[in-house]
Amino acid sequence: MQLTGQRVLVTGASSGLGRALSIRLAEAGAIVLATARRLDRLEALAEAYPSIEPHRLDLTDVRAIADFCADVGHLDGAVLNAGITAVEPFVDGSNIIDVAMVDTNIVANIRLTRGLVTALQGGRLVLVGSMAGEVALPYQAVYSGTKGFIRNFGLALGAEWAGDISVGVFAPGGIATEMTDIDAMEKLKGQLADVEEVASALMTFYQSEQRYSIPGRANRMSAYAARFLPAPLISRMMERVFRSE
Ligand SMILES: NC(=O)c1ccc[n+]([C@@H]2O[C@H](COP(=O)([O-])OP(=O)(O)OC[C@H]3O[C@@H](n4cnc5c(N)ncnc54)[C@H](OP(=O)(O)O)[C@@H]3O)[C@@H](O)[C@H]2O)c1
Repeated sequence: MQLTGQRVLVTGASSGLGRALSIRLAEAGAIVLATARRLDRLEALAEAYPSIEPHRLDLTDVRAIADFCADVGHLDGAVLNAGITAVEPFVDGSNIIDVAMVDTNIVANIRLTRGLVTALQGGRLVLVGSMAGEVALPYQAVYSGTKGFIRNFGLALGAEWAGDISVGVFAPGGIATEMTDIDAMEKLKGQLADVEEVASALMTFYQSEQRYSIPGRANRMSAYAARFLPAPLISRMMERVFRSE
């Protein structure tokens, strides 16, 4: 795919995977509409990479999403990457955080996808899911649910919009970013993938026509095993893994 001059939206561009992807896209010649809440970070990115346009967009703000979609103009592609998680026993969590997770990871992506249909005709739409959408994770029950939604939402639209908009879901395993830089992930830190490697895989996926991708062989094997083994067995295996810690 020739990226020079192409207009690509990236949500969650202020850190982690979205930031690394935005830089790659800009280096390949794309005009990147980089969105997030922390405008100062986006502006710093735009200073270093002039083809990055910073746009403050809070994905929990319904009006802001509608206004953004109304003004965006033609897009060659969009990578709906922004997301949040919480890692804790469900009973210790709060409805406020869980609802924010559903709003950010699910509702905003529905609103953006519908709002961008016209802008994206003939283009590429990538939704960032997670291995947590393949294997239901204890202590991340709501997050796992949101990423399971992204998997089915993206695959369904991929079939529905074939020939009009090329839709793909990218589902990485754990990555070392702000999202995982928390005490609850301490034990997993040695197993997290490098964000630059995952961003390279996402860049390749964006430039393809593929509908689904899980980067990393070990992740792919776990996902395939989870699909072929009975769900209750997988749930018991996850119980043993997490309860033994
Ligand atoms: N890290 C992992 O282990 C991992 C694994 C699998 C999948 N993923 C997925 O990969 C994607 C990127 O995650 P990451 O690891 O790069 O996380 P990250 O470093 O925490 O970045 C998350 C991005 O989302 C943006 N964001 C969060 N809430 C927002 C809101 N209400 N409005 C607008 N933007 C918002 C943040 O920007 P502001 O705070 O500036 O708004 C930030 O740019 C997410 O969808 C995540 O679920 C991550």
